[in-house]
Amino acid sequence: MSRWTDWLAEQAAAREDAGLRRSLSPRPASDRVLDLAGNDYLGLSRDPVVTAAAADAALQWGAGAGASRLVTGTLALHTRLEDELAELTGQPAALVLSSGYHANLAVVSALADRDTLVVSDAHIHASLVDAVRLSRARLAVVPHSDVAAVRSALAGYDGRALVLAESIYSVLGDEAPLVELAAVCAEHDALLVVDEAHALGVRGPGLVRSHGLAAAPHVLVTATLSKALGAQGGAVLCSPAVREHLVNRARPFIFDTALAPAAAAGALAALGVLRERPHLPDLVRRRADDLAAALGVEPAAGAVLSVPMPSPQVALAAQASALEQGLRVGCFRPPSVPDGISRLRVTVNAGVADEDWARATEVLVAVVKEHG
Ligand SMILES: Cc1ncc(COP(=O)(O)O)c(C=O)c1O
Repeated sequence: MSRWTDWLAEQAAAREDAGLRRSLSPRPASDRVLDLAGNDYLGLSRDPVVTAAAADAALQWGAGAGASRLVTGTLALHTRLEDELAELTGQPAALVLSSGYHANLAVVSALADRDTLVVSDAHIHASLVDAVRLSRARLAVVPHSDVAAVRSALAGYDGRALVLAESIYSVLGDEAPLVELAAVCAEHDALLVVDEAHALGVRGPGLVRSHGLAAAPHVLVTATLSKALGAQGGAVLCSPAVREHLVNRARPFIFDTALAPAAAAGALAALGVLRERPHLPDLVRRRADDLAAALGVEPAAGAVLSVPMPSPQVALAAQASALEQGLRVGCFRPPSVPDGISRLRVTVNAGVADEDWARATEVLVAVVKEHG
């Protein structure tokens, strides 16, 4: 056992020295700290319509789905949710899974194999990185949002190819050149997989639909239900043929207990709220633009503002200073930052009252001035 004990101690010491030690801090159900670190962009996770639907579903269907989808876990709630997600995103079919992570694992591992070339943007989410490893496909990582690099990676390859991108990137909050990527994929008969985790709900039906790409047979979408929709779960939005393939071949779908009823009903209710309150995404946009201008950082494509910090230690100090003043913001350090630059990650939340938002802006401006 001492070999393992020594190894764990060495690893912990190396993390500590590099300022990269992470720990978990449980938060109470309610506190006075304003959360600008989470991804509840529209404030729906605590919306009474959403929480009541989740609670009712738990009472009606039980706390868990009880089995995987192919056994007895497929509930009427899942199929309704799939229909509504497909309608919102303009895609012909949808498949709901227990998380966005699973959705990405499912798509890539079921569509790609050793005979597939995967071309991946350098800033892609960890779930897609892991998905490619699981698939054992050949991998070409291309510089961030570099369409020419995608084109040259695909050039001369005449097998099945997948290109991976996020419509809005999770850490830097920037937007992918989706129209150009889709055109390159069409030229090379490649499939484009777009992770809309940070766009769905924040940019209405997501950027694939907004750019008129929803009907393109070579573009498919993955999404999470745990950010703007305030619930939990993931989805693949695709053609019926891809859905059928995933149901039969995607191990992260097949060997996983179905999405819990409360999460499915919560997400369904959130979709209803989105239809009834279309001003919510506009509020996110306005707040994101104003905050980016106040902090002097790049405008955000969605709800994520990225504030570069000089070092991991300074980033932590800035985060602690914001917390002392009642604000929780994210602190991303290597290896969770694609470019190695530590940063504060501040998220806009439309559920925060106007006066609290104004105070949060003041605090953030002061913190960034002191540490940035
Ligand atoms: C871009 C992206 N894809 C996928 C996921 C995973 O989604 P989930 O949290 O639902 O597993 C996340 C975040 O957690 C994400 O940021």
